[in-house]
Parts: sequence; C-alpha cells; structure tokens
Amino acid sequence: MHSICFLILVIYTVSVLAANVFGIQCPNSSADWCKTKEIATSCGVTKQCASFVWKRNDNDRVNFTIYYESLCADCRQFIITQVWFAFQAISDIVNLTFIPYGNAHEIYRPETQLYQFYCQHGPDECYGNLIHTCAIASYPETQQHMPFIYCMDSIVDDVEKVARQCAQNTSIDFEKVANCTNSRMGNQLQHVYATQTEHTKPTQSFVPWVTLNGNHTEEIQNLAETDLIALICDTYKGANPPARCKKIL
Ligand SMILES: *[C@@H]1O[C@H](CO)[C@@H](O)[C@H](O)[C@H]1NC(C)=O
Ligand SMILES: *[C@@H]1O[C@H](CO)[C@@H](O)[C@H](O)[C@H]1NC(C)=O
Ligand SMILES: *[C@@H]1O[C@H](CO)[C@@H](O)[C@H](O)[C@H]1NC(C)=O
Ligand SMILES: *[C@@H]1O[C@H](CO)[C@@H](O)[C@H](O)[C@H]1NC(C)=O
Ligand SMILES: *[C@@H]1O[C@H](CO)[C@@H](O)[C@H](O)[C@H]1NC(C)=O
Ligand SMILES: *[C@@H]1O[C@H](CO)[C@@H](O)[C@H](O)[C@H]1NC(C)=O
Repeated sequence: MHSICFLILVIYTVSVLAANVFGIQCPNSSADWCKTKEIATSCGVTKQCASFVWKRNDNDRVNFTIYYESLCADCRQFIITQVWFAFQAISDIVNLTFIPYGNAHEIYRPETQLYQFYCQHGPDECYGNLIHTCAIASYPETQQHMPFIYCMDSIVDDVEKVARQCAQNTSIDFEKVANCTNSRMGNQLQHVYATQTEHTKPTQSFVPWVTLNGNHTEEIQNLAETDLIALICDTYKGANPPARCKKIL
C-alpha cells in the first residue's frame, strides 16, 4: 500500500513540476495521460505509455530494399555491416527486402522453357543468387532468412559448402532450399527478381543498390552506406520509436 501511495505522490509531484516546465497541465483522468507525448511528459509517464499504449503498427514500418548479387564484395560488406546492424537493432520498424540478382542478365530458352542467367561473377554467383532466392521463398520471414544470408555473406568459400554450413547454423533446411533451386519454381522466382531489378526507377546501375520506401537517390544510397540505422530511424514516423533511434543528447 505504502509504495503505491508513494508512487502516486511521486507521479503527482513530477507532473506538477513538469506542467510548469512544459506549460501543459497533466489531465486529472489517467485515461488521458497517454494522449500525446507532451501530455505524457507532463504526467511523467512517458515510459509507461510507450510500453503499454503506443503500440507500433506494422503499416508504419519503413520499407528498405537491397538489390545485390551474391558474390560482390561491396554487397557482402554492406549486408554484414549496415544491414545486419539495422536488423539487430531496429527490426521492429523496418521491412527489409532482399533482391538477389544485381547486374545479372537473363535469356529465355524456349527449348527448355527456362531462363538462363549470366552473372557478373560467373556461374557460382548465379548459383548463390538462386540459393538466396530460394531461402527467402522457403523462409519468408526476415527473422529466418536474414541470419542465413548474413552467414553466407560472411564466408568466402565454395558456394554450396558455405550454404550447407550456414543452413545448419541458422535452422534452415538445406534440402528444402535445394528442392527449390533444382525446380522450375526456383527458376521462375529468380526471373521475378530479374524483372524487379530491371524495372527500378531510376534504373539500377550498380550494386549494392538500395531503395527507401521505394525511392532511390544518391543521398539515400550514401546515408544507407554510412549509417543505415540513423537513416531508417529518421524516416520512421510511427509510434514509439525504439530506444536505439533516440538521439544521444
Ligand atoms: C482537475 O481537478 C482540479 C481540482 O480538483 C479542477 O480544478 C480541474 O477543473 C480539473 N480539471 C479537469 C480538466 O477536469
Ligand atoms: C511490413 O511487413 C508486415 C508483415 O509482412 C506487413 O504486415 C506490413 O504491412 C509491412 N509494412 C509495410 C510498410 O509495408
Ligand atoms: C557454425 O557454428 C559454429 C559454432 O557456433 C561455428 O564454429 C562455425 O564457424 C559456424 N559456421 C558457419 C558457417 O557459420
Ligand atoms: C524434396 O523433394 C523430394 C522429392 O520431391 C521430396 O521427397 C522431399 O520431401 C523434399 N524435401 C523437402 C525438405 O522439402
Ligand atoms: C511498403 O511496401 C509495401 C509492399 O511491399 C507497399 O504496399 C507499401 O505501400 C510500401 N510502403 C511505403 C511507405 O513505401
Ligand atoms: C519518395 O518519393 C515520394 C514521391 O516523390 C515522396 O513523396 C517521398 O517523400 C519520398 N520518400 C523519401 C523517403 O524520400
């Protein structure tokens, strides 16, 4: 009982003080305390409102898309640093989308009714792109495929060997992924990424190539490569930004 009374007293005192500072009176009814950030501040309950009332909405997430190819050194570097840091720190406010294709080209072969792909770093890269494509299709949640992609991008070795090891380490069933890479479905999924890559505006001209809420500018690209967390935090307009987004004063 005592501690509750004390808590109420503390909240009351804080709110009276805060009201003087911010010029906003803390409302009498606690139902109104989380109405705005200013009111919550005046009542001294910002933390409580953030935890219980200001829920984040998935539709407020920032869309961030990475067009890349599996064996390009700059792509690997970007994914295992900036993208990985953002995934770990602020995955609640961003939808990360990977488009593994990059500077590849495709030709449709009527005789097999399959697309044939030609990659900047040769057939191994095409195989790597297809493995990424199939891992994403088999495990659509970013929480599932991002650690696998991160792992593959961290190790330079035979593509399939790395893929098998990384699958084991990140709870991905390699046989499931391999079923896809060996199928018409895998070929079709890779073609979809080819089409998406060829239709970016402006036209994708290097890798890694990023879009923020569908937009690509030189400024967005540069900010993403220097501090992706800050870029996403600054773009996020939804409720209750994660602690990592708050500027250190
Ligand atoms: C809050 O309570 C005080 C004191 O009881 C009263 O004077 C004031 O009008 C009330 N304010 C509102 C918004 O109800
Ligand atoms: C982000 O992804 C979630 C889950 O797939 C979806 O519900 C939400 O609408 C997406 N947000 C945006 C801005 O696309
Ligand atoms: C898999 O995990 C083991 C144990 O944590 C680690 O030693 C190994 O380097 C990892 N391999 C890969 C490919 O990540
Ligand atoms: C892979 O495909 C084979 C043959 O269609 C099937 O028997 C097997 O269950 C599949 N494996 C997985 C993990 O999906
Ligand atoms: C985010 O992407 C989804 C589809 O992936 C789209 O429906 C939504 O409009 C996008 N949101 C923004 C802000 O670009
Ligand atoms: C993206 O482009 C649209 C339309 O030009 C613009 O309204 C929006 O502010 C841009 N978003 C970003 C993050 O630059």
